[in-house]
This record gives sequence, structure tokens and C-alpha cells, in this order.
Amino acid sequence: MNTYDSVRMAELLNGTGIYESVDDPAHADLIIFNTCHIREKAEDKLFSELGRMRKSLKGRDVRFAVGGCVAQAEGYQIFRRAPFVDLVFGPQNYHRLPRLLQRLEAGESRICDDAEHAESKFEALPDTRTGGPIASVAVQEGCDKFCAFCVVPFTRGREWSRPVDEILAEVTELARGGTREIHLLGQNVNAYKAMDGDGVDHDLALLIRQVALIDGIDRIRFVTSHPVDMNEDLVEVFGDVPELCAYLHLPIQSGSNRVLDGMERGHDVDAYRHWVKRLRETSPDIALASDFIVGFPGEDEAAFEETLAFVEEIGFDHAYSFKYSSRPGTPAAEMEHAVEESVKTERLARLQAVLNRHQEMKNKAQVGKIESVLVEGVSRRHSGEIMGRTSGMRTVNFAGSESLIGKIVSVQLTEGRANSLRGCLIDEECDRLDAE
Ligand code: 5AD
Ligand code: SF4
Repeated sequence: MNTYDSVRMAELLNGTGIYESVDDPAHADLIIFNTCHIREKAEDKLFSELGRMRKSLKGRDVRFAVGGCVAQAEGYQIFRRAPFVDLVFGPQNYHRLPRLLQRLEAGESRICDDAEHAESKFEALPDTRTGGPIASVAVQEGCDKFCAFCVVPFTRGREWSRPVDEILAEVTELARGGTREIHLLGQNVNAYKAMDGDGVDHDLALLIRQVALIDGIDRIRFVTSHPVDMNEDLVEVFGDVPELCAYLHLPIQSGSNRVLDGMERGHDVDAYRHWVKRLRETSPDIALASDFIVGFPGEDEAAFEETLAFVEEIGFDHAYSFKYSSRPGTPAAEMEHAVEESVKTERLARLQAVLNRHQEMKNKAQVGKIESVLVEGVSRRHSGEIMGRTSGMRTVNFAGSESLIGKIVSVQLTEGRANSLRGCLIDEECDRLDAE
């Protein structure tokens, strides 16, 4: 979501005719930090990066702005810790950037816009969008789930869905510019609920069906989903809509019912199992990804081992895992039975060892398959090669011409590694999502 917001900020400012994005901060007159508040480390990083960046500019007069969730949570406090910052603005206010910057130009200093506005920022953002082969579209924002550990409901606000017609117009505009893969974004994207212009209610499943009808859109993904908001329709779109990629990111956080209860997730391990079963029945090759937190208050060794056993049982294709980080203002920050840092570190390493083993195993199991790959760019690791992703989000590096960037090609997978695959190009024209 932050990457999406940064792209939209750049589009907005580039559209003013006053600002132009540059690749190197050394050439910038304005530097905007778009920040994340989800874990303490992310917040600390802002202040160290601000200091590092300022030093590297060697006294050059540059304006600094801080946006995103740290800005929303800390507001004026940011000026105290980094007095050279000129502007602070929250994630719901970035559409006001041109006006805020004008106020700075007019001589105001230390402006903080963290107010919650009634207006929709999306209406104020430019209609014209130019994505690459892959582009993101925010469809839902905010969260009402209030998991005991999480700051998102406080920084991003309550759940809110964008109107269907606005989303379809944005996707159509992107498709016209050559985008072939759309990522529908939301903090709780499967809680999407909105009406179209005819008053017809849409959930995420119906929205996906509509996006798939747009000319030029060959692939669709959505992130991130909550187990509580899963439903049968959303499972069925994986079977019915060939444009929907066979990949689902569905965070569970822990494999222990007691810990899930403490986290106030609103579901147990069995509910998660049920959805995995239904998804695999409907889309047997679906790649499943998840998020995990280790060391949540009250997680003892037995509870942690339940998580390890659950991971072994499900066999995730990919996962993100984190040490629990206490966030001010969340219920978990007040909980007893905190887990020691050294224990968190040890558990994270054990969990990641299992997750990595599964990921590598799953990658190796792909060898021999022929998959459609949307070519994203040149390979970072292997010079002279290009790279793209399979429907299951696996990165594939293979020999091929840069002229294929933006095209969907058929690739035979030849080698599975820990984080990626290697393959060999077998067809430069592959319009079907699944080449098998
Ligand atoms: N500490 C550690 N990880 C967290 N996440 C959210 N809040 C915290 C926290 N306080 C993780 C969850 C979530 C992902 C986006 O970040 O796993 O799914
Ligand atoms: Fe945070 Fe839970 Fe909402 Fe996800 S569902 S954003 S973890 S409160």
C-alpha cells in the first residue's frame, strides 16, 4: 500500500508541472519519506534515514517531508526529533500535497496535516495513470479488525471501500496504457464492499469478475486478505476466472488457538484449515502465502511448537515472519507475559528455517512445468537474462530479449532454488494465463 501511495504522490506532483521525479536524491529539491509504523524497527529507520540523507546532502538546501503512518501517529513530534523537516502529512492527506507545498513556498514552516478529512483523496488524485506491465489499484483502505498487536486501525483508519465504477475506470485507464497485471490492494481487501453506479452491491469476488472483463487485463491479484472475511464466492473465483492468478496471501499469525485468541484475530486454526482445503479443492495448484508473528505476549514454547506443526501441516509456498513488536496504544502493549527478546530471536530463526525449507521444496517441485510468465524486467542476479513471475508469484530468471518486457511468455521451469526459479523460454506468445 505504501508503494502504491508513493506512486500516486509522484503522479500527483509530476502532474502539477512544477515538480518532476528524479532518480537520485542528490538532484532533488524536495525529498518525501513515505513511512510505515507497523513495527518499531520501521519507525526507527525513518529517523536514521532522515539523518543519513541530510548528511549526504552536505548542507544543500533541500525540503524534507514525512508522509505515511509514522507521520499520522507522531504528528508534530516529528519536528522535535528531526527539526529540519518542513512538512508532515498522514496517509489520508497526500492528495493535498500540492497545496501544502504551496504554503511552504509562501513562507509557512513546519506544517503538519494529520487531520482526518471527510473528502475522498482518490477523487482529488489525477485520473490519468501510467503504470508499467504491472500496476496496483487501491480498492479498500483501513481496518476494523483491531488485532491486539496492530496499529493499522489507528493510523489508516476504519475500513472503507472505493466505489466500483471509480476502480473500473482506473483499471481501464491503466489497461489502455499497456498494463496487463492488476494488483487490487487493501489492508483487508477481502472485506471489500461497495456499490456500482446501478446500485448493485459488490464484494471482492464480484469486483474481480468485473476487472477480468476489462480488455487488456490478463492477470489479477489481490492483497491482503483476512481469514474472517473469506467466503465461498471468493474461493470460487479462483476456479472460474482464468485471469485471477493462483496465489493467495492469507495471514494467520500463529498456529496456536490460545495465541490467536490473545491476538483477538476472531478465528481459530480450524477456520483457516477449512479455507485452505476449499482453496486447494477449487484451485489445486494455488500458491499459499501467510504472515506470522513470534513472541506475542503469552506465547510459550508449546504454543510456538503448535505454530511449527501448523506450518509443516499446511506447507506454505511463501511467508513473511516477524518478531512481535510492542506498539504504543495497542491492547497487546499492556499485556503481561512478554516474551524475552532472545527467545523471540531464537523462535524466529526456527520458524524461518521451516518456512524456507518449504519454500525451496515447493520451488523445486515446479521443475519441468510449463508456466506463463509476465516479463517484468531484466534479471538482477543473472546478467543478460530477463525475469518475471509465474501465476503463483514465483520469480523466474531466464535467457531472453529485453524486448519481451511487458509480454506474457511460456517458460519451462528448469531449476528450483530457495528464492527463485530458472527457466527456459519456449514460446514468446502466450496469451493464456496458464500455459499447461
Ligand atoms: N509486531 C510484529 N509484527 C506485526 N505485524 C503487524 N503488527 C505487528 C507487530 N506489532 C505483522 C503482521 C501483519 C503484517 C503486515 O505485519 O504479521 O500481517
Ligand atoms: Fe492489523 Fe489485524 Fe487489521 Fe491486519 S487485520 S491490519 S493485522 S488489525
